[in-house]
Parts: sequence; C-alpha cells; structure tokens
Amino acid sequence: MIQTTAIAHPNFALVKYWGKKDIDQNMPAMSSISLTVDSMQSKTKIYKNLSSKQHRLFINGQEQQDLSKIVPPLKYLSKISKSNDFLVIKSENNFPTSSGLASSASGIASFVTAYEAHYNIDLKMSDRVNACMLGSGSAPRSLLGGFVLMDKNDSYRCSQILKKSDWPLDILICIASTKPKKISSREGMEISRKTSPIYNDWLDINQKHVNEALVAIREKNMLKLENVTEKNCELMHQVMKTSSPPIAYKSDVTISCVAEIENLRAAGHELFYTIDAGPQVKIICDPKSSKAIKETITEKTDVIEIVHAGIGGSPRVVNEN
Ligand code: DP6
Repeated sequence: MIQTTAIAHPNFALVKYWGKKDIDQNMPAMSSISLTVDSMQSKTKIYKNLSSKQHRLFINGQEQQDLSKIVPPLKYLSKISKSNDFLVIKSENNFPTSSGLASSASGIASFVTAYEAHYNIDLKMSDRVNACMLGSGSAPRSLLGGFVLMDKNDSYRCSQILKKSDWPLDILICIASTKPKKISSREGMEISRKTSPIYNDWLDINQKHVNEALVAIREKNMLKLENVTEKNCELMHQVMKTSSPPIAYKSDVTISCVAEIENLRAAGHELFYTIDAGPQVKIICDPKSSKAIKETITEKTDVIEIVHAGIGGSPRVVNEN
C-alpha cells in the first residue's frame, strides 16, 4: 500500500492571533508573527482507506471522533487532486497534545505536506496556506521555518522574516501541565470576540505590534522583541480575562515561572516569554543563558519539564514504511 509521511514543527506566536474574521473560512481577524521550533514535531502518515468509505484520524494511536479540523483542509485539497479517496491519517506528536503547545498547527501542516506529496499535486504556497488555515488559523505559519509573518492584509500570505542561522536563539518550553485545556482556542476566541470590552482595542493595536516586531526581528534586537512580545501576550491574556465568562489559561506555575524570568533578567540574562492558550511558558533566550535559566526554573518553580529547542525549519516528507 502506498503511504506518505511528513513532519512539521509547531510554531509559537510572538504577535498573536486571538479572534476570527470569518468562522466558516476560519480566517484570523489579525496578522501574526511566529517562531517555528525544532525538537517538537508532528509526524503524519496518510494512506487510502481500503476497508470503509470514511476518513479515519488517529492521534497518538487514538482514533478521533471529532474530524472537524481535518475535513475542511481535506475537502480543499481533494478538489485540487480530484481524488475521492477516503484516507487513514495517523498523526504522532512527540509533545503533549492540546495543552497550548500548538499541536494542531504542526499536525495540520504535516498533513497538508503529506497530502501534497502523496497525490503529487505541486501546490502553490497560497493553496497550502488556505488548506492549513481551514484546519487551524495558526497552522499556515508552520509551513515555514524561522520567524514567520502571516499577513492578513495580503491574503494571509506567509513569509519568512529570518531563518535560524540569521539569529539562532534558543526556546525553552516550560511545561506547567500536560492536561488538555478546558476551553479550546476556537471556543475561547469566539467568547472573547463577542464579549470582551477590549476586543476592539486588541484588533486596533495588531498592526502596530506587527510593525514593532518586524523591526525588532530584522534588527535582531532582543530588548525590542521582548518589549513587543510580552506586551502583546499580556494584552491577549487581558482580552481573555475580560471576556464573559472570563477565560484563564495561566496557572500558579505559570505565574511563578514569569516571576523567575523577571529575576533572571534583572541578573543580566537576555530572555523573554510568551504564553498561549494553556499554562505553558515559552522562553526565548540567548543560548548562552539557557543553562542558567533551566537550572533556576527547575529549582524555583513546579514546572514539570523543560523542553530545550532551537529554531525549526519547514515541513518535510520522510520516507518511511
Ligand atoms: C493563542 O490556531 O489553535 O495560540 O484557528 O481555532 O484552530 P483555531 O485556533 P488556533 O489558535 C491559536 C491561538 C494562540 C495564538 C497564536 O498561535 O497566534
């Protein structure tokens, strides 16, 4: 049986997407900037389902009943490939799924990459972006390595701002909990869009944050990137908190981790953080400081594990049977 496997990496947003412009098309209401990470990955294998007329999705060996994130990209791609095949899709993550670690982004980007190779359809980048976006608004950013801009004002075009070798920072992912989140990003961002009194301020400031982050990344200016990343992150968490009902993804472990980051900074280390829809804290730092940061966070907080990553590359097809 012919099967195709591809690998993609998660990405963490420095300027974040929280809120949709169009629910049916799953279009973000704003531009975003992210960093693709190595070490963590989704590996997805696809092959034709010869035993039943349905798509089947397995994540880490568990068959999924909810196919809502995979069917829209699949439909989009099958129009291009002109295939009516039903597929078996088997995706493995080497990190906790659905806990604010962008597993859907890497999962979908690896699926789209495997599909393109399996049907030999040579997609345009805009088709890859569209297919990924239908699955998850943050997934198109995992189509590229390094620092990535997804520009809402240019049909969500994704472009690389810098690659790993341009600015080889480290990323330390502090796992505060491995439990799946209670409110999905999808539900959470709809609640915020409808109820947060500061949602429009959040929309209005997006382009300013994008511009500041672009300057900081192009100049490789750690202080400027720290400033805009943390400001953007804290504002997103304020939008969540002021929603009705309030949404809180940070935990006590998250808070203690941030306090230690501030102490480390005061001691002269170059680092900053970002936090998504989960309690995990992602630290971006000068590799010279990684060891000291890991020791301090391990000693002073209840973080379960710290994953040490670098900046990752784009998805790739792997030969495997
Ligand atoms: C907080 O891309 O997971 O990580 O489009 O509904 O699948 P859906 O949401 P998703 O949301 C990501 C939210 C975020 C910020 C970001 O990655 O930009």
